[in-house]
Amino acid sequence: MEIKQAKKPLRGVVSVPGDKSISHRAVMLGALADGTTRIRNFLQGADCLSTIDCFSHMGITVDNLGDEVLVHGKGLHDLSAPDQILDVGNSGTTTRLLSGILAGQPFTSELTGDASIQSRPMNRIIRPLSQMGAKVESVKNNGCVPLRISGHSLTGIQYQSPVASAQVKSCVLLAGLYADAPTSVTEPWVSRDHTERMLARFGARVETEDTTATIWPDPSLQAADLYVPGDISSAAYFIAAALLVPGSEVLIRNVGINPTRDGLLRVCRAMGADITLENRQDASGEPCADLLVRYSELTGATVEGGLIPALIDELPVVAILAAFAHGTTVIRNAEELKVKESNRLDIMVTELKAMGCDIEGTEDGMIIHGGRPLEGAVIDSRLDHRIAMSFAIAGLAARGTTTILRSDCVDISYPGFYGDLEKLQH
Ligand code: S3P
Repeated sequence: MEIKQAKKPLRGVVSVPGDKSISHRAVMLGALADGTTRIRNFLQGADCLSTIDCFSHMGITVDNLGDEVLVHGKGLHDLSAPDQILDVGNSGTTTRLLSGILAGQPFTSELTGDASIQSRPMNRIIRPLSQMGAKVESVKNNGCVPLRISGHSLTGIQYQSPVASAQVKSCVLLAGLYADAPTSVTEPWVSRDHTERMLARFGARVETEDTTATIWPDPSLQAADLYVPGDISSAAYFIAAALLVPGSEVLIRNVGINPTRDGLLRVCRAMGADITLENRQDASGEPCADLLVRYSELTGATVEGGLIPALIDELPVVAILAAFAHGTTVIRNAEELKVKESNRLDIMVTELKAMGCDIEGTEDGMIIHGGRPLEGAVIDSRLDHRIAMSFAIAGLAARGTTTILRSDCVDISYPGFYGDLEKLQH
């Protein structure tokens, strides 16, 4: 994919696809509920299709009608043993959340996925699930996928997670549905809370206090009618594009602004961005709004601590914003970036350098001295959707032409991304 420097302002209205995290959870809880769950604005990205595929191999009928998805749930205790090895594709959310559910089943299952997922750390879920009494093995004994999970009757635990990770928290809470007593997870900082919100909507008892979430076991989950708000992690690219291309004004409709996900908005404001929230609404228990974003002169900021989990997937595009901002941006406490779909820390540093940016990697983040004009370059996405989309935005603001290699990987979370970006340029 070739991206040329934008010669005129970006203008128009865009609706980004449904939230990836919420779409996954809607299918999972729909499968475990009694009755049919209807999901509107479901994300038809490859990751969420992997989740549907896994459940369809466990006896769950899912009608994917495009504009809506119907999940015919069978209740908490009626999944069938998988008729094949479950394929999670590239999806960390499918792997970790599904593992929590599988840990509570009276059968053995195996899951595997692509090369990226086979290198991501799974001990972070193997540890708590084992404490609960499940048998979870890394088949190659390397702490990664493929996993073999033998479900058991589970014990409720109080788990102190060493990382702020919604995937770990959700894995343990979902296993907690099958435990003999309440299960709680305490994190160093609060991670996204979509699982807790959605479990409550399906009828489970979940309570949150500070950084601890607790679930009570064996509820009867009731099917729900859900509308998935637009994904702020996808909106992030248009927010950045509008902020960076002089004269731009873009309205992004219907974006989820859950306070555990809105870190990008907070950082952009600290950098001097002109972003207005309009038309605030509730989407099935998730706050959302239209975002009006206007070109702004940005200055550097410090991004650290509890803010990190609230913008973990947006950090690559924050680095792009920082490269064009005046002054220095420091990103700290972001070591989790190394274990995403790719090592996003190293890749951002290498590729931004290739464009002429003054950037250095640190143990747990990066330091970016912004404001130098960047030059178009050839960027390999490494098959990481967020790397591809971040550099597409850098390409709009850099001189000349930027070429993104293996650019189709955006289909993981945003099929149609390049088309939507193009429309704003007319
Ligand atoms: C997700 C949680 C985050 C995020 C991922 C989706 C989720 O991962 O990076 O894209 O849906 O729970 P971690 O929980 O591992 O930080």
